[in-house]
Amino acid sequence: MTPEDVAAVHALEQRLFPVDAWPLQMFVDELSQPETRSYVVAEGASGIVGYAGLMCIEPIADVQTIAVVPESEGRGIGSTLLAALIAEARQRRAADVLLEVRADNPRAQQLYLRFGFEQIHVRPRYYRDGVDALIMRLQLSGAPAEQTSVDQTNKEAGQP
Ligand SMILES: CC(C)(COP(=O)(O)OP(=O)(O)OC[C@H]1O[C@@H](n2cnc3c(N)ncnc32)[C@H](O)[C@@H]1OP(=O)(O)O)[C@@H](O)C(=O)NCCC(=O)NCCS
Repeated sequence: MTPEDVAAVHALEQRLFPVDAWPLQMFVDELSQPETRSYVVAEGASGIVGYAGLMCIEPIADVQTIAVVPESEGRGIGSTLLAALIAEARQRRAADVLLEVRADNPRAQQLYLRFGFEQIHVRPRYYRDGVDALIMRLQLSGAPAEQTSVDQTNKEAGQP
């Protein structure tokens, strides 16, 4: 994700997270901290169809956001974005990847479970509309980043 992408990403953000969309400035601020942040976009023929971001302050990496437009869901874009974040976390030598997910979002939870995330906590009424947050964690093996391969990523994704 580059600064030129922010307007399009923010438009998607408002559509995909109507209750708690990030303000545009949040994306600008995140992109201005490349030493601890890494953001990616997925581009289709019509423009950006997904985006995701990671914060990594050793030894913990956090999935800050991940989203795919409804018209492009179920085609592996979310998995590809998540695999990219996990690869980045490994490269940055994180021990764990953490994330928060709405308790009423089984689709996203399913994606995370497939990658080996496990639920470790619940934050009651974390979201503005009173929904709980599930805290999920993926423990990274500690393998050196250079050993991270497409095979490894596929294994995490539960793909052959
Ligand atoms: C959660 C989200 C990011 C998933 O993105 P996605 O692109 O649909 O994810 P994928 O396509 O990789 O995987 C979703 C499902 O499609 C299936 N799938 C993947 N590739 C496929 C393909 N080529 N053909 C058919 N199905 C496929 C996967 O098996 C998966 O099934 P599962 O959910 O039962 O495990 C997306 O639904 C989203 O943005 N939701 C709204 C925002 C949101 O909730 N973000 C998460 C906040 S914590």
